Amino acid sequence: MDGPAASGKHTLARQIAKKYKLLHLDSGKLYRYFALQVYQTKGQKVNYTKLKQALKKLTLKKLKDKRLTSEPVTKIASIISKIKKIRQMLKKVQHDLAYNPPNKFKGSILDGRDIGTVIMPDAHVKVYLTASLNVRAARRYKEYKKMGVKTTLNKVKSDIKKRDYEDTHRKISSLKPAKDAVLLDSSFYNTRTAFVEIDEVIRKRIKLLNAT
Ligand code: CDP
Repeated sequence: MDGPAASGKHTLARQIAKKYKLLHLDSGKLYRYFALQVYQTKGQKVNYTKLKQALKKLTLKKLKDKRLTSEPVTKIASIISKIKKIRQMLKKVQHDLAYNPPNKFKGSILDGRDIGTVIMPDAHVKVYLTASLNVRAARRYKEYKKMGVKTTLNKVKSDIKKRDYEDTHRKISSLKPAKDAVLLDSSFYNTRTAFVEIDEVIRKRIKLLNAT
């Protein structure tokens, strides 16, 4: 599942994972995890040795760290995700989890920007989830408010707009729908309706796979 910032990928992927007993990996959290390491070195250059060490210590629990969603870490994640070496380092983790999830899972679902195009070009189901900038900004603003983060709707909107631009214009792994992705604009959908739509796509695909 791919799509721009705050399009609702994380929530929907989590729900799909629960229904189909899949491992869920929010790949954005991996970039945020690296961004946190960079943030902690206080503006110094990216230290790849440190990142390698952090990668070795990575657990799914560590990706739930609240600091990963903070504003400075979000900004750094957007910047470092343009670096080829960073993307290569994170590709392996994503592959390992996507293609060899622990036995208790029946498969995997990943969400991000380049899952259908680069990480899992052979995924059984590809969904590109989007929503208008206004809707996405309002959703993210609501999330921030709930978390007690002090910000304004306008600031959230301009930050998202900037990240959208960076994600779609970078040279490698830019944000775009895979040719075979199902496009879903969730601007006028609530989570439940979006879930039903995506589930329908999955069920059709399973039927097709079972028939061949
Ligand atoms: O949750 P939100 O949509 O705001 O962002 P995220 O999915 O956590 O991703 C954080 C940043 O990581 C994005 O701004 C992207 O620049 C980058 N990212 C990426 O380059 N490739 C991915 N597969 C996932 C995220």
